[in-house]
Amino acid sequence: MSDVYLNGQFMPLEQATVPVLDRGFIFGDGVYEVIPVYNRIPLALDRHLRRLEYSLDGIRMAHPMTPEAWRTLILELIARESSADQSVYLQVTRGVAPRDHAFPQGVAPTVFAMTKPLTPPPASWIRDGVSAITHADFRWLRCDLKTTSLLANVLLRQLAVDAGATECLLIRDGFLTEGAASNTFIVLDGCLLAPTRNRLLLPGITYDLVLEAAASHGIPHEERPVTEAELRRAEEVMMTSSTREIVPITRLDGVPVGKGRPGPVTMRLLNLYQEYKWP
Ligand SMILES: Cc1ncc(COP(=O)(O)O)c(C=O)c1O
Repeated sequence: MSDVYLNGQFMPLEQATVPVLDRGFIFGDGVYEVIPVYNRIPLALDRHLRRLEYSLDGIRMAHPMTPEAWRTLILELIARESSADQSVYLQVTRGVAPRDHAFPQGVAPTVFAMTKPLTPPPASWIRDGVSAITHADFRWLRCDLKTTSLLANVLLRQLAVDAGATECLLIRDGFLTEGAASNTFIVLDGCLLAPTRNRLLLPGITYDLVLEAAASHGIPHEERPVTEAELRRAEEVMMTSSTREIVPITRLDGVPVGKGRPGPVTMRLLNLYQEYKWP
């Protein structure tokens, strides 16, 4: 693995260690970002950095670096990795301090960054689609923040794995929010529907890119609340994320979605996304 970055220095992964009193370890008190890189160019980097600042503001942490400093660091990481397509991971925690819930004063944040080769989703996922299950969304009420406190997401994703599925779609009070580690779109009566952005789901960068692609190519679309009933009678369902791009979901709780094959809107968006990432 290429060198990682920790608190101002590049070093081999094995040498990158943090004290056990780091609040990321003790409380999950931190935020993170994942940025896809194609042909050594980070995709939508400005948007990812803006979301990182939004998450930092949301947990009341000062910004440890300017966008320009982040950019320099990220480009350095990318240059050190041999694969041209990568997934860059950034994490900021509230730093190391005696264990106490309240914020410590005058403590430097822990800043960590690494990259790894980005492997596209298996061809069979695109050809056949994947299966998903549904579950009650038992996460907190600030899912718009990309925090490292991911226990609920971990438990929900594991439910999908236990069921032999790829993703767990989350339902809160009768409405679809998103997946355990992805956003969800459905197609109903030919219209692409995106659950409304609010504090109950992560404002995905891929989610935005998909909606923008729909807008600029005349694909009917709407951002609005999506009920569980609508999810269950959708013609198409898809999940989106920076590392998995757009993946058709063709079985939901063991029942075929629409015709049980990836549908035309999903495939159109997938093609548009490929053009976007390889301009
Ligand atoms: C809970 C959740 N929602 C949505 C997404 C998709 O966000 P993005 O498209 O920015 O990767 C992710 C990404 O990992 C996620 O963890």
